[in-house]
Amino acid sequence: MDAPAKIAVVGTGYVGLTTGACFAHLGHQVVCVDIDIDKVQRLSVGDVPIFEAGLAELVEEGLNTGRLAFVANTGVGVRDADFVYLCVPTPPSTDREGNADSSAGLVDLRALESAAREVGLHVRAGAVVVNKSTVPVGSARLVAKAMGRSDVTVVSNPEFLREGSAVSDFLFPDRVVIGATDRGAAQRVAKLHQRSAAPTIITDPATAETSKYAANAFLATKLSFVNTIAAVCEAVGANVADVLSVLGHDKRIGSECLTPGPGWGGSCFPKDTQALVRMAADAGYDYSLLRGVLAANDEQFNRVVNKVAAVVDLARATIAMLGLAFKAGTDDTRNSPALAIAERLLAAGARVQAYDPAVTRVEGTNIALARDAYAACEGAEVLLVVTEWDEFKTLDVAQLAGVMSALNVVDARNIMDAEALLRHGFDYQCIGRG
Ligand SMILES: NC(=O)c1ccc[n+]([C@@H]2O[C@H](COP(=O)([O-])OP(=O)(O)OC[C@H]3O[C@@H](n4cnc5c(N)ncnc54)[C@H](O)[C@@H]3O)[C@@H](O)[C@H]2O)c1
Repeated sequence: MDAPAKIAVVGTGYVGLTTGACFAHLGHQVVCVDIDIDKVQRLSVGDVPIFEAGLAELVEEGLNTGRLAFVANTGVGVRDADFVYLCVPTPPSTDREGNADSSAGLVDLRALESAAREVGLHVRAGAVVVNKSTVPVGSARLVAKAMGRSDVTVVSNPEFLREGSAVSDFLFPDRVVIGATDRGAAQRVAKLHQRSAAPTIITDPATAETSKYAANAFLATKLSFVNTIAAVCEAVGANVADVLSVLGHDKRIGSECLTPGPGWGGSCFPKDTQALVRMAADAGYDYSLLRGVLAANDEQFNRVVNKVAAVVDLARATIAMLGLAFKAGTDDTRNSPALAIAERLLAAGARVQAYDPAVTRVEGTNIALARDAYAACEGAEVLLVVTEWDEFKTLDVAQLAGVMSALNVVDARNIMDAEALLRHGFDYQCIGRG
């Protein structure tokens, strides 16, 4: 490796903490900054507040080798850095009442501007400020303006990692995208990733910024397409698993992201697709395809609710919801399909008893949390699988039958043992099979 770089990372969430811990693992000297003092204190003693495979080990390694430190003061964090990575949230804008006005697709860039302003006050001349947050076109300029420093270069380097496999996605990315007007700065950033041997695309900032939205929009489109094909399969009596297997063998389509489910969610796909629709509209293009993708996803939540309503009276029912995270392998419930579906069930009068192996609290809802899957199923008339955790695949069906008050399963991830359930007298519904 070349001489280790001095790297500061601003924001220690899923992206920032992964970025910092991985760069330290690669031998660089890293300081991570966060405005959340409690988080900084916890991280400083190796207490990682998020659930992400392999991340706690890398943080511990970084602390032990002295290559990773956490501070709450941006000035202290960035003053010696050759590279400053901005990994702060870019959530949907909120209206005056503080509600997320996500349908408008506006992006709240206040955290980014504020972080850039602070960095601008302290970063040394010649440093490269790298924006990893997902941002609308023009944000590289916004960062440069907020910093107010002509001696510091801004580079756009969108992050494509997936929660649940963030560490390996960072260390072995499919590609690295760097958008810069200064080719030398872009090459300096590219060098930090050369060990991964990933294809590196150096382009202009607007293209880099757009590519991140395009990637998420494509994946969301693929998922909505799969769910709508599943709906067609149900209607015509076809088997979605076989249909998708046929599709997946086509190299032009590929087999990734070809699994039907309860609808997609998470902290990125919903906000990023809405932001792209908005960005396009503001530029004069009505992105009707992507609006359709969003509508299909909302329909999918309803389709799951309707499957439950087909077997019980929601106004009186107790539903055991298995899974709250937006997907397996994470504790992240931001924009989780589980919460969207639970809200609709609760609004119809149902009681929702939920269990998720990685989620220990959910705020602002009336979902009752259970200690395990069997406790969630106690007295329930419907077991509803929403997150594809492995442990739900191997539940003891006899034990479930013993604790539930009626034997209905809605498997919105198609992961349960249908034959075993049918043998024990369950009514079994999944996605994409009549
Ligand atoms: N989570 C993902 O899977 C993912 C993947 C790719 C890209 N992204 C993008 O990366 C960005 C960060 O996402 P995340 O999921 O890591 O967010 P997060 O909410 O998990 O973490 C953000 C962190 O930034 C801190 N922060 C906020 N303002 C700050 C400031 N001014 N100075 C210092 N710290 C500050 C917060 O306290 C928090 O710890 C977003 O733009 C997101 O769209 C996320």
